[in-house]
Amino acid sequence: MDIENQPNVHSSQPNKVVQRARLLNASPAIVVDRLKASHWRFENVVIPKIEQSFVGLMKIFPDNPSLAVLFKVFIKFELAMRFHISIEEDIIFKEYLSQNSKENASDSISHEDEEPFLSEIIYLLKKEKCSVNPFCRILIQQLEKFELELEEHAWIEENIIYKKIREQRK
Ligand SMILES: [Fe+2]
Repeated sequence: MDIENQPNVHSSQPNKVVQRARLLNASPAIVVDRLKASHWRFENVVIPKIEQSFVGLMKIFPDNPSLAVLFKVFIKFELAMRFHISIEEDIIFKEYLSQNSKENASDSISHEDEEPFLSEIIYLLKKEKCSVNPFCRILIQQLEKFELELEEHAWIEENIIYKKIREQRK
């Protein structure tokens, strides 16, 4: 086994810490730009690729109804996420940038509520017979990577944006 080429799960940790520290010290405009860029990537790159993988897999395994069900769950997750993104970009980020508290503004919500949805899909996909298929493994990897990215995204929103807004509203 070539140890050199094995992915190291810990190697991303220092980067994560550095990135978080950098953002904690960044200007509000930079934080918002960064978050909007990842929203864009989720909607226009990550989600369409996962959809493609699901559709391809359903073609390979047309007799597996579970795949169609999991795909529907993913679509629901996607719709909820698009709605969530629009609330953040239209209301939350603007409030954060204006540094102005709105007493009757809607309650802060975070992407963290969406994560279990994705974990469920991954967990159930792994239990499927077709999970040994290389295309299914690719789909699982895409979902796991998305889950990690979303987790980091939610951390930034929670610890920078939402934290500040809660302070402003006091
Ligand atoms: Fe977000």
